Amino acid sequence: MPDLKRKMIVDCDTGTDDAVALLGLLLADNIDVIGITSVHGNLTVEEATANNLSLVHFLGLDIPVYQGCPHSLTAGLFPGRTSNTLCQTTRKEFDGKPLRIHEPSLGLPTGGRTAEKEHAVSYLVRTLREAEEPIDVCATGPLTNIAAAFLLAPEIAQKIGTLYIMGGGIHIGNRTPVAEANFVDDAEAAAKVMLSGANLMIGPIEANEAGATYTPEDIATIEALGTKSAAFVGALLRRFIWRCDYLWKPGFSLAPYEIDPDSSCCVHDWAAVAPAIDPTVVTDARAEVCRVDCSGGMADGQLIIDRRGYFTAPNATVVYDMDEKRCKQLLLELLAKY
Ligand code: RIB
Ligand code: CA
Repeated sequence: MPDLKRKMIVDCDTGTDDAVALLGLLLADNIDVIGITSVHGNLTVEEATANNLSLVHFLGLDIPVYQGCPHSLTAGLFPGRTSNTLCQTTRKEFDGKPLRIHEPSLGLPTGGRTAEKEHAVSYLVRTLREAEEPIDVCATGPLTNIAAAFLLAPEIAQKIGTLYIMGGGIHIGNRTPVAEANFVDDAEAAAKVMLSGANLMIGPIEANEAGATYTPEDIATIEALGTKSAAFVGALLRRFIWRCDYLWKPGFSLAPYEIDPDSSCCVHDWAAVAPAIDPTVVTDARAEVCRVDCSGGMADGQLIIDRRGYFTAPNATVVYDMDEKRCKQLLLELLAKY
């Protein structure tokens, strides 16, 4: 009986929503995660690597983790390309330290596991070159590792079944007025991936907000599952909501981690990878001509969708809307397992 699981590599800057996405993929019956590669972004690449190792240990799995690029392709080369990847560091302190939206550590033990010696980019190139069947890739952080791999071996783009990307905004940004965090954290990498010829499915801000905006009620529903992974995700999202409100909600004064019943958080990365597990979570997806601006100006990192035929044929599928009920139910089904 052929193995019905689809092979997948997950590239992530494992902060909070990456952790939820990775757990979902690791728990899915139809996905075989063969390797996890970490990248700079929410956290340092070392922190993201440790978090990935701890999630593998949490589920008692034996999946290799590879450490990837510590900063963007052009970091430090010119103004606007800082080498500080702690893009989530914000201007507010808590307990005398700058509070970062994504916790440096998920608070899970790594069980003594360590990253492989091979660099993530080398692993991506080698594994995809050697693949006899297409391998899916999920990228939920800046696309530095993916773009670097395409630079080394452009032909591997054809060895990817679908490259699921969390990135971009159709009309809005979340790091600048028009640019989303993953794309703006390495605009050149995102621009290169758009032109790679890989089969892209992009989960932008708006679609993710439609499919995976979690309220305190949703979190309580997760926790009511009573499993280890549900308790972990519930607590993680409670802390995430609190951190976002502490950083951005004027006058917010609730103690950690008491959350405002009217608050919510978008679990972007879960929404972006959910279609890899169950495509029915997507209700509106369109073949689009996509580019990413990397000119360093006001629109730097913006996902640009050409609907006027200035560029060539569509190069990506962009998700415009999701079935929120199905997207949330799918996560419940997966977290109920462990
Ligand atoms: O804009 C949201 C994205 O930026 C998510 O991948 C989140 O983890 C951060 O990396
Ligand atoms: Ca991420």
